Amino acid sequence: MFTIITGSQFGDEGKGKIVDYLAKESDILVRFQGGDNAGHTVVVGEETYRLHLIPSGVLYNKRLLIGPGVVMNPETLVREISELKNSGIDVNPKKLGVDAKTSIVMPYHVELDSLREVTRPDKIGTTKRGIGLAYEDKVSREEIRFSDLINGDLFLEKLEKVAPIKEIIIGSLGGDKEIVRRKENISKYIELGRFLRDYITDVSFEVNQGLKEGRKIIAEGAQGTFLDVIHGTQKYVTSSSTVAGSACSNLGVGPTKVDEVIGVVKAYITRVGGGPLLTEIKDPLGDKIREVGGEYGTTTGRPRRCGWLDGVLLRKAIFLNGYTSLALTKLDVLTGIDPIKISLDYEFDGETLRYPPETTGDLERCKPIYEELSGWKEDIREIKDFDRLPKTCKNYIYKIEEVSEVPIKFISLGPRRDQIIDLR
Ligand code: IMP
Ligand code: MG
Repeated sequence: MFTIITGSQFGDEGKGKIVDYLAKESDILVRFQGGDNAGHTVVVGEETYRLHLIPSGVLYNKRLLIGPGVVMNPETLVREISELKNSGIDVNPKKLGVDAKTSIVMPYHVELDSLREVTRPDKIGTTKRGIGLAYEDKVSREEIRFSDLINGDLFLEKLEKVAPIKEIIIGSLGGDKEIVRRKENISKYIELGRFLRDYITDVSFEVNQGLKEGRKIIAEGAQGTFLDVIHGTQKYVTSSSTVAGSACSNLGVGPTKVDEVIGVVKAYITRVGGGPLLTEIKDPLGDKIREVGGEYGTTTGRPRRCGWLDGVLLRKAIFLNGYTSLALTKLDVLTGIDPIKISLDYEFDGETLRYPPETTGDLERCKPIYEELSGWKEDIREIKDFDRLPKTCKNYIYKIEEVSEVPIKFISLGPRRDQIIDLR
């Protein structure tokens, strides 16, 4: 059984919680793209876990995998392993595997991420984790891979080959070009490689063999649909493909093997960084949603821009991902807001659009057309039974289902693992 879970908006939809919830009934959880630009929050009891690289299923004793389409900062991974260890969760090579071909994020990628952003007139607002630069090196075939990192000699050999060009670029942008071959950095990476040596695996083999043996596998997306490097709101996007099909190509699993694709939809919308957000609420209500929803970046701490649910984008997300069901999250955050708005169409040059235009420039010129729905005041956070939700709350859920034409199977009403209505 192969299930892919992706974010249907701009990331931060609450994928971490949904993956954690489904992890207990799964055998293998695998990350297929992105890197430590991602931040997935999982709350269990009093503890809050913030994960950047390790799949959100880590709190169960399951096999966890980091696929070859991920760009991995080994310092972040080792820090995450040791933080989890401090919370009493042992992560060892029996539990976690990293593909041999996973690209390594190097200190010069992080340096270049900031330098490049400074040169841009329109800022993307990247997380400055070097993610885009590491992907560039994959495409230009100058990457250092996990299999190189864990073999100190190969690592040094590869580094020597790419160092001169990296130094020229960093130097010409006015950066610290010494970072490329600084002794402390090199010995730190060799040390990290030694620590991580036994984690090496072949992810496409493990996943395909697992499916053959009837295991339940979840591929966990990072970021969200409209940050996709091909289908998102260029240039305000991340550098990997975030839509469901990317799980197949990045993990080396054929599309014939996919059983389910779950889209995570937040009850409103947020975005961190630059780029269009048509339904953004720029008055105190937006601030209220940010505070109640804790809408601050898990990775960078930046305040997220908040807005109404964008049904026009949701229609496109459903096309791009082929969702078979949806998980609606953070519905509790809207309690007390009346009316609640949802954008069902855009106005574009006097025309009404049900589907977003293809280019970012055209999208920026659209104006959302809203439908207003009555809100609710009741505290819904501990409700476990759909029928006990306030009528107006159910109407909002039905409206989202009507727009998306995909069944909502999970409704999350708070950060805790048990705050969920499971409609399966
Ligand atoms: P990068 O991925 O660091 O290159 O950043 C590119 C864009 O994607 C920026 O707008 C970031 O804020 C955004 N971004 C990257 N990762 C995440 C995430 O996990 N959640 C939300 N936004 C993200
Ligand atoms: Mg996040």
